[in-house]
Amino acid sequence: MKIVLIGFMGSGKSTIARELGKQLHKEVIEMDSVVLERTECTDMAHVFEKGGEILLREWEIKLAKEWKDASDVIISTGGGVVMNKIILDYLKENEGQVIFLHSSFETIHDRIQQDNTPRPLFQHEEEAKKLYDFRLPLYKQYADHEVDCDDKSVEEIVSEIKSFI
Ligand code: S3P
Repeated sequence: MKIVLIGFMGSGKSTIARELGKQLHKEVIEMDSVVLERTECTDMAHVFEKGGEILLREWEIKLAKEWKDASDVIISTGGGVVMNKIILDYLKENEGQVIFLHSSFETIHDRIQQDNTPRPLFQHEEEAKKLYDFRLPLYKQYADHEVDCDDKSVEEIVSEIKSFI
């Protein structure tokens, strides 16, 4: 089965994907890392400097198409994949199960403050909150399952996901 994790920046997709991969003995693909490899960039700020947000979105579409027939894999996506419906259409192919990791903006904000990963679209709190509000219905729309992640441990979130699949 192809498991696809979606959610806003800082919602814990990578951490959950790693733990789920360990427990289910499945390969984990980090979409952001593959974008960095393919664009030969050091981080997301570098991608945005090189080609703007559009370069990232073009790569997300190409990779989703490349992985549409994948099976037995966990794909941790970038928070912006919901901006292009075609990405989710590809990722849902071959019985892909899309799981939305839903954290509140407050939880995400606190987490991102403590993390120094460059996030070009999370520079100003107000703009990030607008983006969060805009995307929330999209994550819900594309998800086959939604996990409420606030105040839950990694172990609790992973076992909830395992109960769906
Ligand atoms: C983005 C999310 C980031 C990364 C890029 C843009 C977004 O991934 O793809 O900075 O548009 O929400 P994470 O969700 O892993 O932080």
